[in-house]
Amino acid sequence: MNTPLFLATANPGKARELRQLLPSFVITTLEDRSLQMPEETGETFEANALIKAEYAQKVLGLPVIADDSGLAVNALGGAPGVRSARYIEGTDRDRYLHLLRELGTTADRSAQFVCAMAFVYPGGKSVVTHGICRGWIAHEPSGDQGFGYDPVFIPENQVHDGEPRTMAMMSNEEKNAISHRWDALRALVPYLEAFGLVSSGS
Ligand code: IMP
Repeated sequence: MNTPLFLATANPGKARELRQLLPSFVITTLEDRSLQMPEETGETFEANALIKAEYAQKVLGLPVIADDSGLAVNALGGAPGVRSARYIEGTDRDRYLHLLRELGTTADRSAQFVCAMAFVYPGGKSVVTHGICRGWIAHEPSGDQGFGYDPVFIPENQVHDGEPRTMAMMSNEEKNAISHRWDALRALVPYLEAFGLVSSGS
């Protein structure tokens, strides 16, 4: 159908995933259109996703999807949570190494990636869906695929012959099949259909 859709993110990892998940859309992102995005001042993933999507929709006039996602580690009271991208200054690697230091040898390593996905349609209608991917935090990083905290996150059911696989050891297709973003997007599809943006089966 080649419907234009703006994805309000500058994160190339997220854009790559969403393009794979929504092949019938022509997706542009903050890498294609320069837009000064508002600060993510919300206390929840949902609030931040809506802040980004509503702003971009108003400025560009296109249908917009914005996700806000992050990693919630149970033993750290849900941190880094909504602050995942800003946990500490530096690179993704600096942040996941910091997380491993904070967690130390803590036995409870359970954690989940969480995603809130906001869709705002011209005219102002909006909907927010949620996705989750449960797992736990590895003791050391491994793998070089994906982005963010992938090298230290082992999704549920990813232990093969006693060997845990981090998300960074999975192919894009394998990650998409279980990811929090896919989960949130799947929940969004009926709304995209209701707005006439995708036909069932596309
Ligand atoms: P946002 O752009 O404010 O939603 O920040 C999301 C941050 O959460 C990213 O920069 C990553 O640090 C982390 N994150 C979200 N989704 C993933 C994922 O699928 N893999 C690894 N890290 C993720």
